[in-house]
Amino acid sequence: MTSAHHSIPEMDAPSEDDVSRLVQAAVSARDHAYAPHSHFYVGAAVLLHDGRIIPGCNVENASYSLTQCAERVAVTSAVAAGYRNFWAVAIASIGGAMPCGACRQVLAEFGMDIFVYTVDVIDGERQMRRLSDLLPDAFSNSDIPSS
Ligand code: THU
Repeated sequence: MTSAHHSIPEMDAPSEDDVSRLVQAAVSARDHAYAPHSHFYVGAAVLLHDGRIIPGCNVENASYSLTQCAERVAVTSAVAAGYRNFWAVAIASIGGAMPCGACRQVLAEFGMDIFVYTVDVIDGERQMRRLSDLLPDAFSNSDIPSS
């Protein structure tokens, strides 16, 4: 079965200027991370097709499972502000961690061709992936028979 959801991504990557603004926003957002339990501070930012950037950070809770990842905070903040046209996301942490599975699924809701940048805040090393490579065979609306 074919669907747009599973097609080969064709969107161009954002410009180096946009990527560096996006990465910088993720690094800055990390300053606001609330992570008193894990002490693993994460910043994220989403880039929209119009160049707008919206930040997020992880928000932990003493009831650990209520913790919100930085990426999901950025995505939900953007949606709440009226924006869903995601082009890229950047995630900043020590070690340049890749997004967790739950965040991959949440990003997938808004497009498998999203560019995912990670940055190690210690040495500045960046990596880029396509969401379609991070979450192959994603579950989506097209899997729900009544949709
Ligand atoms: N965390 C994120 O914010 N994003 C990820 O992709 C991985 C994990 C946060 C959740 C928690 O506050 C801390 O990192 C340790 O798991």
